[in-house]
Amino acid sequence: MIQKLSRNFFSSLSNNKVLNRGAKRWGLKLGASKVVAGLTVESAIEKIKDLNDSGRMVTLDHLGEFVNDAQEARESLREGLHTLDVLHEHGVHCTLSVKLTKLGLDVDEALCWQQISALCERAAIYDNTINIDMEDYNHYGQTLDILRALRKKYDNVGTVLQSYLHRSIEDTEQLAGVPLRIVKGAYKESSTIAYQDKKDIDKNFVNMVQTHLLNESYAAIGTHDHEIIAEIKAFTEKNHIPRDMFEFQMLYGFRNDLQQTLVDEGYRFRTYVPFGRDWYGYFMRRLAERPQNVTFALRGMFSK
Ligand code: FDA
Repeated sequence: MIQKLSRNFFSSLSNNKVLNRGAKRWGLKLGASKVVAGLTVESAIEKIKDLNDSGRMVTLDHLGEFVNDAQEARESLREGLHTLDVLHEHGVHCTLSVKLTKLGLDVDEALCWQQISALCERAAIYDNTINIDMEDYNHYGQTLDILRALRKKYDNVGTVLQSYLHRSIEDTEQLAGVPLRIVKGAYKESSTIAYQDKKDIDKNFVNMVQTHLLNESYAAIGTHDHEIIAEIKAFTEKNHIPRDMFEFQMLYGFRNDLQQTLVDEGYRFRTYVPFGRDWYGYFMRRLAERPQNVTFALRGMFSK
């Protein structure tokens, strides 16, 4: 009950446009610096190097979403290209994760298409990869359409599927061959389209990962859930799935010990590192997911 109230409360805060805008001026507050690597790519780069030194690959997310102005969307592209340049200059093992609404999906789909194509193009020059994060269900169909169109031209792009959606298992089958990150899903979606019960979401998660791997397709397993991780490990051992066909992923600042254990056990591992001024919505979604993170934020409020 408390968990549900907390989830609803922080989910609605994450969508609050006034607070989202205000937070861009505050700098990293409320303990967000524990889970957001900095305000600029330059300030995140040392953390990326440290993660690489510990055996972890990284995917970097320049925070921001729900942009509704063409100029801001164009600025997002400039920042994305700059980020790819900086990653290349520093020679780090780090891909780029992007949200299509940051690149203007809500402004003009054609503009968004041009911009995501430009990012794929630049990433290809550097032999790097772009991963398109999955947002709320309102953007789901458009995101998959753009992904499919991109894949006709670029093989260095993949996306995310969310196991809380009823339709995701079919989409997993249809996206055989495309690198996919499987996650549970971070947005509040209705029961007409999404499972609400953790047991169903978890069961679908494991099913999606197994399906993708059995289709000989690369899977990133994006979860902090040790039970799911144990199940996937047992499945890959039993089915002789080569370790270079999958990787585990977790968010920066969460379960650091478990991240390192997986690396030490010889699994491919990638930390998802967010940075940027637009930290507020991301941070509120992390609070919505796990009431324990609220204590973490409160501690941060007093220590910063
Ligand atoms: P969940 O929160 O369900 O926890 C399951 C269990 O794991 C808990 O009961 C507890 O036992 C344990 N656990 C979890 N967190 C813990 C912690 N911090 N410390 C100790 N134990 C803990 N979502 C989305 O909609 N679109 C996207 O593109 C992405 N991208 C993405 C990338 C990556 C790399 C990750 C890890 C996640 C995402 N997500 C996402 C978010 C995802 O959908 C989901 O909301 C969160 O990962 C939370 O779900 P979990 O699977 O981690 O476990």
